[in-house]
Amino acid sequence: MLSYRHSFHAGNHADVLKHCVWLYCLRYLQRKETGLRIIDTHSGAGLYSLTAKRHENREFCAGIGKIYNRDDLPAPLQSYVETVRAFNQTNLCFYPGSPLLTTRLLRPQDELWLHELHGRDFQLLCDNVATAKRTRVIQGDGFNGLKQLLPPPTRRALVLMDPSYEIKSDYQKVSDALCQAHRRLASGCYLLWYPVVERARINRLEQQLRDSGIGRIQIYELGVRADAEHSGMSASGMVTINAPYTLMEDMQDALPWLATQLGDKGPGHYRAETLSE
Ligand SMILES: C[S@@+](CC[C@H](N)C(=O)[O-])C[C@H]1O[C@@H](n2cnc3c(N)ncnc32)[C@H](O)[C@@H]1O
Repeated sequence: MLSYRHSFHAGNHADVLKHCVWLYCLRYLQRKETGLRIIDTHSGAGLYSLTAKRHENREFCAGIGKIYNRDDLPAPLQSYVETVRAFNQTNLCFYPGSPLLTTRLLRPQDELWLHELHGRDFQLLCDNVATAKRTRVIQGDGFNGLKQLLPPPTRRALVLMDPSYEIKSDYQKVSDALCQAHRRLASGCYLLWYPVVERARINRLEQQLRDSGIGRIQIYELGVRADAEHSGMSASGMVTINAPYTLMEDMQDALPWLATQLGDKGPGHYRAETLSE
């Protein structure tokens, strides 16, 4: 029985990195008129109240909470934080997950496919996107769902793969699913989130991706403390395939700033690297 609930973690440092990169890519791809098929393979509940009791661990305070009121944000963070602000009055009370961040930007020619396996979060997700147009919610395995949705008729797709990695086989599954998806649509833009809990697992994942023969893979990582065993998630990252060519330069500006703001005790660390040309 899976026990992961994103509501405990919403708005933490990992969400800041993930959603900043996600919105950057979405906005960039929407510069072209042609419609996008947007696929979120692991959607969560969609919207989180940060004042609910379960937020007693208040992970968001060390994430979005630290930058929400800043007016000196680097460009990629500026539009991300503005989007989060749009879900709030003045104070930070709600955090939008990837589904609601996306529905906010959906154009008439785009479509959004959301997958969520967990019954309770599926129900919450359905309620949270009930009024959204061109948005379909599927209760089921997002890895399987992805296969069935590629390639779209427009041959333009943006995919977010964001599992909880509760099951260790997910580390292998994400790599297999990306390779399979890429075979179906080599021009798609794919984003994969990963946590750094055991660095060796991420090293293996990177090696598999390097060996896959897929081109244009980049990696963006934000660490809030040094890697150490049994200290929980020290960092997290986004693997991108076919990301906008401007992302690397913009994240090279944003990541040092973020690492300074969100580091646990003193500045954190970051990576912005090309895995394959
Ligand atoms: C990290 S959360 C997603 C957060 C969301 N993408 C966001 O950014 O707001 C991972 C979600 O995946 C769900 N999940 C786990 N295994 C799944 C699977 N095989 N297919 C679809 N959803 C799954 C979990 O219940 C959880 O809600």
